[in-house]
Formats: sequence, structure tokens, C-alpha cells
Amino acid sequence: MRKSTLLAACSVAVLSLALSLMIDKGEAASDDAPPPLAALPPVPVPADQPLTEDRVELGRLLFFDSRLSGDASISCADCHDPKKGWGDGGDLSRGYPGTVHWRNSQTIVNSAYLDAWFWTSSAATLEKQAHSAITGALAGNLKPVLAEERLKQVPVYVDLFRRVYGEAPSYDRALSAIAAYERTIVADDAPFDKYMRGDKSALNDAQLRGKALFEGKANCIVCHNGALATDQEHYNLGVPTNPAFEEDPQRQIAMRERMRSKGFEEQDYIHLDRDPGRYRATKDKADIGKFRTPPLRYTLYSAPYMHNGVFFTLEEVVDFYDEGGGEDPFGTKTDKMKPLGLTDDEKADLVAFLESFSGEELIVERAKSPPYGLLKFPMGNQW
Ligand code: HEC
Ligand code: HEC
Repeated sequence: MRKSTLLAACSVAVLSLALSLMIDKGEAASDDAPPPLAALPPVPVPADQPLTEDRVELGRLLFFDSRLSGDASISCADCHDPKKGWGDGGDLSRGYPGTVHWRNSQTIVNSAYLDAWFWTSSAATLEKQAHSAITGALAGNLKPVLAEERLKQVPVYVDLFRRVYGEAPSYDRALSAIAAYERTIVADDAPFDKYMRGDKSALNDAQLRGKALFEGKANCIVCHNGALATDQEHYNLGVPTNPAFEEDPQRQIAMRERMRSKGFEEQDYIHLDRDPGRYRATKDKADIGKFRTPPLRYTLYSAPYMHNGVFFTLEEVVDFYDEGGGEDPFGTKTDKMKPLGLTDDEKADLVAFLESFSGEELIVERAKSPPYGLLKFPMGNQW
């Protein structure tokens, strides 16, 4: 695989960088400075789930297979389309047919590095995330048993599951194979990574000025820090509402379904004119309106931005921060956001630096889904 060769090639550089980072972090802890930005290390892979060719191939086929949705019409790749930054290109996601989603479809590039998934960190493993994606009413809307029976009827899957897991297709193994494929969707070759690995020519002057702003005057580093450019904490920035939510009854239905599915009573959500964020995941009022700091790599390709896709360009995002963020009706807005007083040149430099977090676009062909087979009765499974 292209990635493993690349990772092997830079593992030495990454190792020495990791060591120097540990020292930096130690110093940083004393004066409470955030961890410094860093090049992306190798992707974490569980020891019992090695990225063998068959496992990744199985995950790849499943990722592109629309059989993993209730009406067999959409796959993971329809909302995480390689041609659309591995998101779906919309401000708010398209949703399962007959619904529309209430949030922006995140890129899955580099998502294998995260500690928790979704805009509010509500999934604790990649496998649990895939389960939510397949079964959730707004995404896959498919029952696990039906998923499993479909997979068992496809000779190519039966063969691959046997080779990888030594058993017939099962829903849980499908989740694990999808996670394995996601661990190969990595973009670690951005100019920023090259710069941090020692190629000082990888960033131009504007990007270097932008980096200094990011770490200084603009203070992005307090939340976007470390190798992923995120602290993976949750904040309310006062991101404005998306008019699509106010104007489309289907979006409102989507939010209410999501609240009820978490056991909220009607009086807890009926008054909400916007996404209550992490409150849905924790039921803690202190979390209302808060969203996870997203990683910043690959953002050149993953517009629109924020949990509700309300900004279409990085320039709009920088303007938003320059103004100190937005209005907040919840009373939970972070005090880490202040008007920045950036000049136009400084804003352009900051955008140039943000662009340096993205390297080559990661385009892959859609996988062709393997066909169903017909069992010969009364013998049962015979592929
Ligand atoms: C109908 C569109 C849709 C489909 C189908 C879909 N997703 Fe998503 N995906 C989304 C949306 C929207 C979010 C963000 C939702 C949220 O935060 O509540 C998301 C979030 C994610 C994330 C979290 C990324 C992060 O940064 O935390 C991953 C990983 C992911 N999806 C993988 C998958 C996989 C794997 C499948 C197929 C099994 C899939 N998705 C199917 C729309 C979709
Ligand atoms: C207080 C923490 C915090 C600070 C400071 C901060 N961010 Fe963010 N950033 C976030 C959070 C949280 C989100 C997601 C907000 C949401 O969706 O409601 C975000 C979203 C973004 C996004 C959109 C990414 C995507 O995938 O949609 C970009 C780009 C971004 N920030 C850049 C910056 C820049 C540039 C700065 C400095 C000017 C900055 N951030 C300062 C926490 C922060």
C-alpha cells in the first residue's frame, strides 16, 4: 500500500520528532502553554487488527457498498465521497433518502487518528461510529440482522470474511473491516508536515507569517494544537445558525428525531432553534452549544465548514474568528475567543497557512460492489 511505504519512509523522522515533542510537552506543562503543532505520526492501528491487504480490501468494498443502507441506495461513500473531500460537499448532509441530516458530513480523511468521533465526540471507537452510521435513521437506517443476511448472500464477501476472520460474514466483523479501511485514508504529506519534518522550503513566506499568527496574535493554537491541530475538546464559538435549518421542516424533524433517539423529553428540545451540540451526547446543560475542535488537515478539500456547514470558505472562517466568534443564546460561549484585530494582509497569511495543512487531494476510484449469488437448496451456504 502507498501509505505504508510512505509511513515506513518517514518513521525515523517521526520518531525523533515524537521524542523532541515529549520534551517540549514537559516544558509546556509548567507554564500551561498548549502542546505545539507537529507533523502527523503514523496512524494508530490496534495490534489485533493489522492492516492486511484482504482486511483493507474487505473494508473498502463495504465502504462503497450501498447494501449497508436500509433501501440499499446509499453507501458510506455517498456522504464521504472521495471527490468531495470525503464529505458530501453540502453545508448540511443529504441524509438517508426521505430525510435530510442536521449536521455537516465530516471528512473521514485522518479520522482514524481521533480519540472519539462525530462533531460532539459521541462515538468512542471507529467501529461504534460505523455502527451508528449504518443504523442511524438519518444515515444508513439499516438493521444489523438485515445487513448480515445481505453480506452472507454475496460470494465475494463470504470468501473475504473467511480469509480475514476465519468465519462467515457477520455484522461486527463488517464494522471492524470498515474501520481498517478508514485507517488507510490518511493524508500526512501536507506542506505543513513536510516543513515540520525538516523541509524548511515547504512553507512560503506568507504561510510562515500565517503560522506565527496562528501560534501568536490569532491564538488559534489554544484549541488547534498538537499533531492533529486539535485538542479534541468541546467549545461553543457562537457559530451562526444555518438558514437551511430555519427554512426546511425536514431539518427540524431530523433534529427532533435525534434528540428523542437519545431519550430526551419533548420539553427539552422543542424550543431549540439550533443544534444543542454536545448536550445531546452528555445531557449536561454545561455542554449545550459545544462542538469538538476539528482537525485542520485536508480542510482545503472539505468545505463547507463547521458542524452546520455555515461557512463556505476559509476566508469566512477567519473573518468569523477575527470578530471574536458569534452571538450565543446558550450562555456557554468560550472566553478563549476575543476580537483579533487582524489586518487584511494578516487574514490572507492566516488563510495561506491553513491551506498548508492540505497536500495532494486523495482521489480513489469507487469500488464496484460484488454481486449477490443464489444459494442451491437444500444444502445451504456453499460458496
Ligand atoms: C447520509 C449521510 C451519511 C452516511 C450514509 C454516512 N455518514 Fe458518516 N457522517 C455523516 C454526518 C452528517 C456526520 C457527522 C454527524 C454528527 O456529528 O452527528 C458523519 C460523521 C462520520 C465520521 C466522524 C468523523 C469525525 O471527524 O469524527 C466518520 C468516521 C464517518 N462518518 C464514517 C462513516 C461510515 C464508515 C459510513 C458507512 C458505514 C458513514 N459514515 C455513512 C453522514 C453520513
Ligand atoms: C476556543 C477554541 C478554538 C479556537 C481559539 C479556534 N478554534 Fe477553530 N474550531 C474550534 C471548534 C470548536 C470548531 C468547530 C465549531 C463548530 O462547528 O461549532 C472549530 C472549527 C474550525 C474550522 C473549521 C474546520 C472544519 O472542518 O469545519 C477551521 C478552519 C478553524 N476552526 C480554524 C481556526 C483558526 C484559523 C483559528 C484562529 C484564528 C481558530 N480556529 C481558533 C475551536 C477553536
